[in-house]
Amino acid sequence: MSYEITKVQKGESVDFTNPASEFYDAVGGEEGMKALMYDFYDIIYESDIAHFFPQDEDEFHEVKVKNTKFFIQICGGPKVYESETGGMNLNEFMIRLHDDFSIYDKSRYEWLGCMEEALRKVDMEQRIKDNFWAYLESFSKLTVNTFSDGSVYYAEYNPGQ
Ligand code: HEM
Repeated sequence: MSYEITKVQKGESVDFTNPASEFYDAVGGEEGMKALMYDFYDIIYESDIAHFFPQDEDEFHEVKVKNTKFFIQICGGPKVYESETGGMNLNEFMIRLHDDFSIYDKSRYEWLGCMEEALRKVDMEQRIKDNFWAYLESFSKLTVNTFSDGSVYYAEYNPGQ
């Protein structure tokens, strides 16, 4: 399995749709999501983007925990991330959280590659994985904020239903 990734184009607004709750069920609810996301972060830790993340073990663990909560909520599970957002829209909050880091499209490709590796080990219907991938591929464009010429740019976006 190898998924398509399209490049971030300046001036192109990003359309994305939150994952279907089918994914949440198929991955195995809260426990299954935890297994997937912890594995994903273990892969990240060995990747070229490891330096973006906390090197302290406890802090890194904290990112794993929060990341898992976010994905549980965005995939239609219980609203376990709600208390983190201070009332802000979940997607907007998540985009802004990445503003603190200079993320290039190259970093995004690496991030998506780690996720692909983790997803490959999960057994579920391909069409359900494809739906989750479509969200990741699009939404991740909104975390990219820095270009190789040094310029900073934030894409506009349209969330679907
Ligand atoms: C679909 C795309 C992405 C989603 C949904 C996502 C989601 C998240 C979540 C939920 C967290 C933890 C938030 C918290 O602390 O409460 C996080 C943190 C982070 N993400 Fe992402 N992310 C995405 C793409 C990326 C990409 C492409 C990078 C590239 C390097 C990246 C780098 C980071 C970093 C550096 C942190 C913070 C670590 C820290 O707190 O020190 N993310 N992300």
